[in-house]
Amino acid sequence: MKALILSGGKGTRLRPITYTGAKQLVPVANKPILWYGIESIVAAGITDIGIIISPETGEEIKAKTGDGDRFGARITYIPQDRPGGLAHAVKVAQPFLADTPFLMYLGDNLVESDLGLFVDDFKDRRLDALTLLCPVNNPSAFGVAQVDERGRVLQLVEKPKVPPSNLALVGIYLFSSTIHQAIANIQPSARGELEITDAIQHLIDRNQQVEAHKLKGWWLDTGKKDDLLEANRIILDTCLETAIAGEVDENSQIIGRVKIGKESQIVNCTIRGPVTIGCGCHLENCFIGPYSSIADGVTLIDADIEHSVILQDAKVIGIQQRIVDSVIGQRAQFKVAPQRPKALRFLIGDDSQIELV
Ligand code: DAU
Repeated sequence: MKALILSGGKGTRLRPITYTGAKQLVPVANKPILWYGIESIVAAGITDIGIIISPETGEEIKAKTGDGDRFGARITYIPQDRPGGLAHAVKVAQPFLADTPFLMYLGDNLVESDLGLFVDDFKDRRLDALTLLCPVNNPSAFGVAQVDERGRVLQLVEKPKVPPSNLALVGIYLFSSTIHQAIANIQPSARGELEITDAIQHLIDRNQQVEAHKLKGWWLDTGKKDDLLEANRIILDTCLETAIAGEVDENSQIIGRVKIGKESQIVNCTIRGPVTIGCGCHLENCFIGPYSSIADGVTLIDADIEHSVILQDAKVIGIQQRIVDSVIGQRAQFKVAPQRPKALRFLIGDDSQIELV
């Protein structure tokens, strides 16, 4: 069994954060989203992994993720020249996949479930496709499935205006090699993509064995800011362990589960976990509230932050109001003069959002 992770695409919904980098590398609790996927695939016993990459962000993904050694896996990078759709990505990966059954994983998804259970069921029952489903409130934003009472999939549609059910397709699929034949027989959809839902529908229409499992536990598609914050909250809630490697002065108070990386300095701060702080950060006169992730090299002085993600080398200085539900990009600087400011001076990237609430 092999795995194919899709980490191409454009990441438009996470702009401006994704103007300068791959959305799959945006960190959740200070670890790239993509790495959670790789770890769960390896935990399910699959170590031969292909990763689809785009010309724009592929080199960054390769440089950061490496050849798979750190995960106990072997990673092959597969360039896709344009985001031609999920089925197009499988087509491009066909030389890597050959006739081997495979698990396909969308690189911006995070799930709690043990993938090993799905892999075993797929193998034992010799299915052609196994999809994972999760009930959602907004099915029109996803691929949607209609299933019978035995879990057999009857119909699949991509982002339908009138959804046939509330069961969204989670971005994890298992396929036998019959999917390649199905992909060879479909046409691009109205949005110009080769859709994996159409390829699976092709299998269903030819009476192949296509089944679905309902996911237990949480699932997050980290495509938008609020999804990213929610992923950060859940991972900090469930996975963070206290570990303090940096320096904390005697005027600081650390409460609950807090991780502080090497060479970080905490001066006169209150940090209420769960909070993770990377390496080489400087925090002075701050309150850092629950569900905050602060990446390497961040400077926070006279700041009050909660339920937020601050990316590498950002600086936040002298903000009196509490910063909540925020994502601050790499190297961004947010400073207020110590005396009451008389003017606001900005250099704000395209698609940025500032709300004074
Ligand atoms: O998250 C679950 C949903 O993922 C499913 O319910 C939908 O059926 C499925 O189409 C997909 O929808 P999205 O709109 O979220 O797909 P997105 O364009 O965000 O792409 C998902 C991942 O695949 C992302 O990591 C980028 C990558 N990708 C995407 C395309 C279109 C590629 O590597 N190549 C591509 O051509």
